[in-house]
Amino acid sequence: MKEPVAQPVFFMRFSAIMFDMMKNNTERYILPEMRREANRASRNTASECTRFVMSAEAENLGRGKKYYIRTYGCQANVRDGETLAGILELMGFEMCESTEEADLLIFNTCAIRQAAEDRVFGEIGSLKSVKARHPGQIICLCGCMAQEEVVIEKILKSYPQVDLVFGTHNLWRLPELLLKVMSKKERTIEVYSEEGDLIEDLPVRRSTSCKGFVHIMYGCDKFCTYCIVPYTRGRERSRRKEDIIEEIMTLKQQGMKEAVLLGQNVNAYGKDLKMEDGFTSLLESCAETGIERIRFYTSHPRDYSSTTIDAMVKYPNIMRSLHLPVQSGSDEILKRMNRGYTNDSYRRLYDEMRSKISDITFTTDLIVGFPSETDEQFQATLDLVDYCQFDMAYSFVYSPRAGTPAARMEDNIPLSVKKERLQILNDRLSDIAAKRNREYVGRTLKVLCEGPSKKNENVYSGYSEENKLVNFTGPAGLKDQIIEVKITESHSFSLDGTASCE
Ligand code: 5AD
Ligand code: SF4
Repeated sequence: MKEPVAQPVFFMRFSAIMFDMMKNNTERYILPEMRREANRASRNTASECTRFVMSAEAENLGRGKKYYIRTYGCQANVRDGETLAGILELMGFEMCESTEEADLLIFNTCAIRQAAEDRVFGEIGSLKSVKARHPGQIICLCGCMAQEEVVIEKILKSYPQVDLVFGTHNLWRLPELLLKVMSKKERTIEVYSEEGDLIEDLPVRRSTSCKGFVHIMYGCDKFCTYCIVPYTRGRERSRRKEDIIEEIMTLKQQGMKEAVLLGQNVNAYGKDLKMEDGFTSLLESCAETGIERIRFYTSHPRDYSSTTIDAMVKYPNIMRSLHLPVQSGSDEILKRMNRGYTNDSYRRLYDEMRSKISDITFTTDLIVGFPSETDEQFQATLDLVDYCQFDMAYSFVYSPRAGTPAARMEDNIPLSVKKERLQILNDRLSDIAAKRNREYVGRTLKVLCEGPSKKNENVYSGYSEENKLVNFTGPAGLKDQIIEVKITESHSFSLDGTASCE
């Protein structure tokens, strides 16, 4: 077992990417190189596994200090934010609710679209004045944005208020990095462009008390041409099955009702460990822990295996809902996106799922305005949406990401056309979602109550087995329980109801 805080190992491993960036050469940074992320042929074996250990020096560093983490993006980022919080609390930091109060402010970022990045830069920009009132405040940026060269260049040039940057592969180094920033007063940028070991036994502060996110794998090898994730999250690495099961057993012992398995492409689970049909086998083992609910995100049509649907049929605690991003209905666009399937093969997958589980809830992701997308190609997406009758879909305007193959294609669809297509698509999706939701009125659904609704504290909210958002009334004390709810009204994106125990 390797000692994770043994810095010389890392400096040897990453010495090639150390640069003197500042004019006076007093600060040395480890900077990202997206090309190294992509060049992964030489390292496609199973990752080694290392256990997290915190140095005694870092242990009390946070005593009497407060932290605030702002997380953007997907559930994988939310789970990373929970690990960051766990590490900070082990160091003695206490969580607080505002940027003004915080001694340490962490931006746990997402790079998937430009708009998300612009928001982060806007917020960091506005913190200059907060920091002026609170000079000891430490501002830190981590997550996917940190892995991009263009972001680091911008920070070095225009954001002197950022004290610490680290990437997705060395989040576990937070104690040592903070030691440098806090004790040695060194501005620190440490972003690895290779994944390194899988780190287990990381502390965690869960953000919800009824369900827990569980990474089953990291990274993505799919290289869809529009997507930055394979560069920011590295190659696919699967956690050992026993570590995943242990995490689920801990959730169960803590009284959590649901485990949400996470990976950019969960169907590829176990490939690097040379497992045969690894994801289905893992899913079955997770179901056998007896936890009440299991969900998983995100599936990819290319690696999809029929056995996964069979497992959903066999185990009642695997929820019957599937998120299967399709992105486009046009074969030509799918080809240029490097998705590895066609409109027809996606429809066949859909047909198989519906034939095996007729009431499966089916959701997707869609992109409009990909380079050179014609009206006919956009129409093919609408036709596919009509065919699949998605319960819900996340729809996006294509956003060019520096360093990806699509960013080298001409982004030739005018913004007005992109927006118009998005509006047409959203109207269609919303009509279908409303129609599907109407079918639930009068039925009783089992809802995992997450607590009061964010919009109205007089009603509870939670998700049904079918993954429908349900707002409902009921007596006090239902939080974290699975409740039978009679559905009384439907909307496009939620249902209303009354707890049957009322
Ligand atoms: N532009 C727009 N949408 C994107 N997505 C990923 N990359 C981009 C991009 N460059 C969307 C895809 C993916 C979801 C998580 O984000 O639909 O499935
Ligand atoms: Fe991005 Fe494609 Fe990987 Fe999803 S499968 S994370 S869209 S590269």
